[in-house]
Amino acid sequence: MTGVVGGHPVPVLAVAGGTASGKSTLAEALARHHPETVGLVHLDDFYVPAHDPHRGVRTLSATGAETLDWNHPGSIDEDAVAVAIDAAASCGRYRLVVVEGLFALTLRAVAERATWRVYVDTPDDIRLARKILRKIEVFGQDPGVSLRNYLLSGRERHAEYVAPARDRADLVLDGTTSEEGLLSGVAHLVGDVLAFAPDRAPHARPLAV
Ligand SMILES: Nc1ncnc2c1ncn2[C@@H]1O[C@H](COP(=O)(O)OP(=O)(O)O)[C@@H](O)[C@H]1O
Ligand SMILES: [Mg+2]
Repeated sequence: MTGVVGGHPVPVLAVAGGTASGKSTLAEALARHHPETVGLVHLDDFYVPAHDPHRGVRTLSATGAETLDWNHPGSIDEDAVAVAIDAAASCGRYRLVVVEGLFALTLRAVAERATWRVYVDTPDDIRLARKILRKIEVFGQDPGVSLRNYLLSGRERHAEYVAPARDRADLVLDGTTSEEGLLSGVAHLVGDVLAFAPDRAPHARPLAV
């Protein structure tokens, strides 16, 4: 597959993986290393409004409240994702668009635009430990609700909607390796797109005069 849909001038890299596998860390590192080159689309920004009972997939939280099911791909506004990818790919600012999120290899809107597919594979126990630590250290939240939600539905949703995407990936990265290791894996996959980017070649002359 070329991954170029509707005449898009730039390729799209889809990065999927479980919660706290390290997708956002990798995508943000790519953008930081290639600020003029990489455009980011975070699927976390495209959940339907959580307060709208008529959109997305609803579930019962461990608290007993009905909520949006954050672990279900049906809770993402896929049309808006498609618009965002197309806009980033055709705006003329980037050489690569990176789409990262739980369902980056699950949603059709992303799959049909993806030139390359990466799955960040991190063992479940490490992902859960990272998530719990983040709840405590970053958000100051009681991790009990997260743990109960994981047992109630999160684990099952991962097995159904995220983990199978590993088999569709062009590259599976070990999410426990260093950021440098992850970046070099991606650089190898996408080749010239990042290698010849102007912001990676500080001594290069301008291409046009
Ligand atoms: N390669 C890595 N090695 C060690 N810790 C990592 C790595 N990648 C991410 N983390 C940590 O794991 C947590 C979740 O990372 P994040 O990128 O937000 O995951 P995701 O976007 O997949 O949910 C963060 O606290 C982050 O610092
Ligand atoms: Mg993330």
